Amino acid sequence: MSKLPAFLFYFLLTISISLSSHPLDPLTPAEFTAVQTAVRAHYSSSHTSIAFHYIGLKDPPKSAVLSHLHHPSAVPPPRRAFIIARVNHSTTHELTVDLTGNNKISDQVYTGPGYPIFTTKEQLAASALAVGHPPFLESVRKRGLKLGEIVCQSYGIGWFGEQGKGSRIVKVMCNYLDGTVNLYMRPVEGITVTVDLDRMEIIGYRDRAIVPVPKADGTDFRGSKQRPPFGPSVNDIDVVQPNGPSFQIDGHRIRWANWDFHLGFDMRAGPIISLASIFDVQKQKFRRVLYRGFVSELFVPYMDLTEEWYYRTYFDAGEYGYGSYASSLLPGADCPANAVFMEAYFPDEDGNPQQLPNAFCIFERYAGDIMWRHTETATPEVVSFFLIGNFWWVY
Ligand SMILES: *[C@@H]1O[C@H](CO)[C@@H](O)[C@H](O)[C@H]1NC(C)=O
Repeated sequence: MSKLPAFLFYFLLTISISLSSHPLDPLTPAEFTAVQTAVRAHYSSSHTSIAFHYIGLKDPPKSAVLSHLHHPSAVPPPRRAFIIARVNHSTTHELTVDLTGNNKISDQVYTGPGYPIFTTKEQLAASALAVGHPPFLESVRKRGLKLGEIVCQSYGIGWFGEQGKGSRIVKVMCNYLDGTVNLYMRPVEGITVTVDLDRMEIIGYRDRAIVPVPKADGTDFRGSKQRPPFGPSVNDIDVVQPNGPSFQIDGHRIRWANWDFHLGFDMRAGPIISLASIFDVQKQKFRRVLYRGFVSELFVPYMDLTEEWYYRTYFDAGEYGYGSYASSLLPGADCPANAVFMEAYFPDEDGNPQQLPNAFCIFERYAGDIMWRHTETATPEVVSFFLIGNFWWVY
């Protein structure tokens, strides 16, 4: 036991040299605004329409990041933003903006396969088009449904070997509330609304078959609607830390016990863990175990051949974005009383930074009871316990 306090002391000493900013920090609100200004100035014609589909940190070269961390006084790695913009509703541009004061910009038209991530604004507009489309209103009437209880969302249409570059097309699919919030349990089947996102107009409508909407009974997932309720919630158990948490948060850098890592955020990838290191007690130094880690994609093909289902082949990160679809964590529901929260920022379609409060919460969770107790008959007064601890963050 005597080794532990000495180690912690050493650890605290090494970390008191803190860096206020880090080359892998996500873009700040001021940086998003700088990007917006630089890109708008770049397309000097006021008639140019610009939709920002992605703005994030352009990964600095790994060698530059590592050498900067070893020699903090040396020149920091270049800080640049990477932007995917749809210009004049017709071409996709990939831009970089230098954020170190000169706002130098590079711009390239992207002609490869695929399309940029959907913006929230265009998805809402596509749904609104569908719900206001007279043939759709007729389909709703025929099914005896209430229009106000219908919720629509737009979905990518996948790729099934078509040649040539098509338009940016989505299909709008609708579900029904009316007695539940579990809308996916109540699909309004048989209808296909096809929308061209660049022209923002309906280019196809088909009502193929009327399928009854499943009943709402017993589908609601909210605890308050379920009987009997679940057992204790996170609210009912408090971890008390009279001396505060034993982790330290310095900007985006988090240190806990023998771990040290950087927690970033990106509108596409969501959480990004970088430079995770563990203190190697034998070598008396930190050993890096992960340079940069995030979920790169989640592909969800539904594999149902029905006309209204076959195209459902979602790329959750690349089409929607884990970051832009993140929602704020609720204190007391998602995170316990001893949690510390961290906000995040991502841009809207116009390039304005949006704050997402409580994007992360960091807390220590008691996850260990005594594993064993040791004593010796020769030294009965010396008793040792072995505990296991745990550390989690919730995203
Ligand atoms: C976008 O369209 C407008 C109006 O047609 C034109 O003036 C402008 O030059 C175009 N911008 C780009 C970047 O192509």
